[in-house]
Amino acid sequence: MNESSDAELGEIIPYGSIYIDCNASDIVLATRRCFTRYNDSDRREIITELSSLFQSPHHTNVLPCFSVRTGLDLFLECKKFPPDSEIILSAINIPDIVRIIRHHGLKPVPVDINIDTIGVDPRDLESVITNRTVAVIVAHIFGKWMDVAHLIAVAQHHRLVFIEDCAEAFSGFERMGHPESDLIFFSFGTIKVCTAFGGAIVKIKDDFLYEQMEKVYATYPMYGTREYLAKLQKCLFIHNMLNVPCIMKCSIELARLFNVDHQKMAVNMMRGFTSGDLTTSLRKQANTSLLATMLARLKQFDQQKHEKSQEKANYVVMRLPPEMKVVGAAARNKDFWLFPVLTESPKFAITMLKKLGVDAYIGSTQLDVIYPDDCQIPEVAIDEIEGESSHSSSSVVSDDSDSSTSSHFPLQGKYLMDHVIYLPVHKNVPYKLLDKICLALYMVVTKQKIKASASRAKL
Ligand SMILES: Cc1ncc(COP(=O)(O)O)c(C=O)c1O
Repeated sequence: MNESSDAELGEIIPYGSIYIDCNASDIVLATRRCFTRYNDSDRREIITELSSLFQSPHHTNVLPCFSVRTGLDLFLECKKFPPDSEIILSAINIPDIVRIIRHHGLKPVPVDINIDTIGVDPRDLESVITNRTVAVIVAHIFGKWMDVAHLIAVAQHHRLVFIEDCAEAFSGFERMGHPESDLIFFSFGTIKVCTAFGGAIVKIKDDFLYEQMEKVYATYPMYGTREYLAKLQKCLFIHNMLNVPCIMKCSIELARLFNVDHQKMAVNMMRGFTSGDLTTSLRKQANTSLLATMLARLKQFDQQKHEKSQEKANYVVMRLPPEMKVVGAAARNKDFWLFPVLTESPKFAITMLKKLGVDAYIGSTQLDVIYPDDCQIPEVAIDEIEGESSHSSSSVVSDDSDSSTSSHFPLQGKYLMDHVIYLPVHKNVPYKLLDKICLALYMVVTKQKIKASASRAKL
């Protein structure tokens, strides 16, 4: 609480809802590695060291990879499941994961998540399993770890492959995924914790599958050092824009002046290989500079510092207006990746927060809801998005299971994505400004209440 700033409420708070988890010097060091000559034995040594960081008695096979998406595609390539086999996914993930599954001729089947825990109910999982189901992928989103023990028991009972997608959940080497999971993915992409500006770790339980995956992976072309270098330059630019308060303040002021969405611009710049032929762009081996950066970053990871950095998020959680709910508040761990909160009227909240100097954001991530095939998407949230509704979140979630929607429709997942906004709350933001953000949130909620009662009075 001893950090100081002269910003007043209404003045711009020069922090965005996304930031890059590194210092500029980390990007400079990664850039230097692009000019280092590595031979085959250096590469092998780096891979061995990286693997040993993630090995555990139950997972001795570790494959450092180009990306989580590469790892998933590789797994499906090796397993060659029969066409139309079904893969169950917890209802929120990035669209590329679904695209990869479809690319392999398989059908993604969502299972809803619980907004409070971000977890999946084992009974819900059981209810979507059919005789075509071959695998289950659960994503620990927003840094929250769901309880998977019962889900694994269900998967094992039906002889399904169980995969933990921890792309957003790296929180040190003490939490490495469940010992019984068949595959576990960690991502070190640009906006992830302990970023290496790319790269991923895939832990594989089965020796034979690991050997197969390693063999196929070794046939992929190498990610170009020049491509990595170009990405690092972009990262340095985005880092300066998002992480350096005086530059961030100028960006926000310019964005206001020219009416452009600077956070959207930054997110678009950070997006990976989303256009063109997805499989060609993800079937690459991580080059040695990227692996060396991943190793250096992970060796530097400081568990205590990481835990301390979560204190700021928890400070704001304790001070949120009761009408605003933090996503995953009842999750087992209190770690955050981004700071997502639910509000009845996201657009109204964002507009008002911007006026109050808080650079909150709606679309910080690529996360989206996975819908069942051939379902009607219920309009659960249109009114709320327009700022007209006065429902409580729980009533919206539970009241809407009408007959037009599939019984497996991920209502809570949709509610979450329709109502989430991301706040500039992270380790870089001084406590004094966190207090101002909380105050601004109370002002938004009060205004929302006044609006709701005025529209009720009109009826
Ligand atoms: C939940 C989730 N799964 C998978 C991925 C993909 O990770 P990568 O960029 O390493 O392919 C992401 C990345 O944003 C993610 O958020």
